[in-house]
This record gives sequence, structure tokens and C-alpha cells, in this order.
Amino acid sequence: MVKSKGAILCVVGARPNFMKIAPLMAAFSTAPTPMPAKLIHTGQHYDEGMKGTFFEQLGIPEPDIDLGVGSGTHAVQTAEVMRRFEPVVDEHEPAAVLVVGDVNSTVACALVAAKKGVPVIHVEAGLRSFDRSMPEEINRVLTDQLADLLFTTEESARENLVREGISEDRVFFVGNIMMDTLHRNLPRAVPPGRTLAGLPGAHWSTHEPSNYGVVTLHRPSNVDDPTTLKRLLETLREISDRLPLVFPIHPRTGDRIRAAGLDDLLDSDRIARLTPQGYLQMLGLVAHAQVVLTDSGGLQEETTALGVPCITLRENTERPITVTQGTNTVVGSDASLIMNAVTDVLATGGKRGRIPELWEGGTALRIRAVIQQWLEHGASLQAVAG
Ligand code: UD1
Repeated sequence: MVKSKGAILCVVGARPNFMKIAPLMAAFSTAPTPMPAKLIHTGQHYDEGMKGTFFEQLGIPEPDIDLGVGSGTHAVQTAEVMRRFEPVVDEHEPAAVLVVGDVNSTVACALVAAKKGVPVIHVEAGLRSFDRSMPEEINRVLTDQLADLLFTTEESARENLVREGISEDRVFFVGNIMMDTLHRNLPRAVPPGRTLAGLPGAHWSTHEPSNYGVVTLHRPSNVDDPTTLKRLLETLREISDRLPLVFPIHPRTGDRIRAAGLDDLLDSDRIARLTPQGYLQMLGLVAHAQVVLTDSGGLQEETTALGVPCITLRENTERPITVTQGTNTVVGSDASLIMNAVTDVLATGGKRGRIPELWEGGTALRIRAVIQQWLEHGASLQAVAG
């Protein structure tokens, strides 16, 4: 492996990181003045369905280094990423370490870099659910405290950062990096008919183009407690009587459903149980859905961008702009509130929303421009007052 002194080490770990890093790697390699960047995959997600497909579909270069950490408890996984990332930083002497989002790999690599005096760049900074029972909230708060350059997707993020004592001159509102990926790939999205073809039940081969809802569930707060999980699955079953549901099942959720003996609740030809889908398959499914029911952060944003109503199965969101401007309604896990929200969507078509500022697909180039100026001036913020 060629040493990359002065390069930016870009870190990915888990599925939601991949759509954020893809446009950045492309922007860093843009002619005529490519910026030296290396891709480090921590290996937090390693299954083909959780990793491989995304690299291929999004044209992400093969990682320069794969740390191969795999799964574990939060402490073990975070510690293992740190242990394996430290020698990489020592060897490469990077100009900066760039991390995205809020997964365990994000905070682990930010902490290693900051302790070594290597500047940290955080893309998607400042989002807050104000719910410390969410592991991601802890990752967000800590990563932002460690970061030197903080790139935000919405105005609330700047307010959160300033309130936490982060100097405003380090915060840059650049828009939503996931929209770069969404706009670039929308024309290539796999039509839902292709993804759903051949599923048991005559319904799926004859379905109207948008006569279904998409469901995703994986947050510990929804799937780890068998009682909560059972209630949610019963609610999904009830919804499926009115609207067929497509449910790509995250490995952690599949494990919990099996362990709690709840498979039967999903045993219906009006619920299409799928393995985790690739980006292009998921984009096709979501873009044509009548509604999305989810506890994912990314899907709250993607549905807003696509104008598809989103019912968020959480008590809060760290992405308030998807509610105030977009198509998102946060309902939590209460069955009657979920049913009311579904009834509303079926009766009225749901929230229409509008596209938030700078969610137009040009975020990677804005980030690149700031980083380039910052590095050219010896990582000085004066040159990039933004
Ligand atoms: C992680 C992120 C979460 C993100 C989610 C998206 C943290 C704290 N959480 O949660 O923010 O929304 O990814 O998917 O970083 N597993 C596999 N194959 C894999 C990876 C995981 O089977 O490739 C299984 C393992 O049983 C593992 C479990 O899924 O124990 C959970 O994986 P983990 O990476 O710990 O957290 P996620 O729930 O995926």
C-alpha cells in the first residue's frame, strides 16, 4: 500500500455511510485538481446486502484499507475500530480525517484522529434528537465536539452546535450530501415491479404502480424489546389489510423477530418480506410508494426529497426540517397513532412538503471547495469564513 502522507482519510463503516461518501470520493477525484483522498472501511457492516451491493451500485472505489471489525457490543465495536484505525493514522499522516453521519465508526475514528492532533471533518454535523437513549445521539454529540470543520444539512444543526459551544466559524451549511446520490441515481432506480416480481401472492404481479407502502425497522428501541416489536408487527399486519406492505428486513430485526417467535405475524401474501435491498432497488421502491413507515434517519430525508409521505416510527427526529418543510410525520410506536397517520395518508394523499434549501445535489462540490481552501491555508479558518 502506497503511503498517502497529506491525504484526507475518508471513513465509512455502516450502510447509511455509503450514500454519503460516494459523492465525496467522486468530488475529491475531480479533474483538473484532484485532492488526495483514501477510503477506509471499518467493516462495521460486512454482508453483501449491507455493504457490497452499495459499493458496486454507487461506484464507490474499493476501500484502500478494510479494518474488518465486524459486529460486537457498542464498546467492543467502537474500541476495535479505534485499535485498528490508530496505526493507519500513524502510517499515513493524513491532512485530515473525514467522517460522515453518526454510526459507531464515525465517533471511533474521530476520537483517534483528534487525540493525535489530526483535524477532523464531520459531514452531517449538528443533528440532534435530544434522546440519549439512542446510540447515534451520543455518537453525534461526541463527534461534533471533536470536529474542526462541521458541515450541516439544515439550519437547526447550526443552532444546536452553537448552543453546545462550538464556534460558528467552523460550521458550514452546505446542504444534504445524500441528495447528491439520490439525484444522480434516480434515473437508474430499479422499477418496483422488477423487485417485487415473483413474490408469493397474486397481488404483487398485478399491483398498481404505487399501491403499496414500504416499511423499515431496525432501531434498538423498536426491535430489541419483544413486546414493542410484537405490537409494531401486529400494527403492520393491520395496515396490510388496507395497503400491501413491502418490508426489507435488516439483519438485526430478522434476528429479533425469529428470537421472539414472531414470524407468523408477517406471514401474509400482503406483506412482502425482502432481504436488505440495494440502493437502486430501495430508491425505486420508495419513489413509487404511497407511504413509507420507518425508523431510519436517511429515509426521512429521502422521502422528503421524493415527495413521498413518511410516517416515522420514533418518538423524535434529529431531522426536524423533514417535518417542518418535508413530508414527514413523527408518530412513535403507538398503534392507534400509527393507524391514524396511515388513514390520513390513504384519505388525503398525505403531506406534500417542499424541498429544503440546498438539497439539490451540489453538496459534495461545496464541501470540497471549503476543504480545499482550508487546507491550502494550513487548516486555517480565516481563509474560509463562510
Ligand atoms: C448501525 C448504526 C445505525 C444505522 C444502521 C443502519 C451504530 C450505533 N448504529 O446499526 O445508526 O442506522 O447501522 O443499518 O453504528 N449484521 C449483519 N450483517 C452486517 C452488519 C450487521 O448481519 O453486515 C447484524 C449483526 O447481527 C449485528 C447487527 O446486525 O450484531 C447490528 O449491526 P450493527 O452494525 O451493530 O448495528 P446496526 O443495528 O446495523
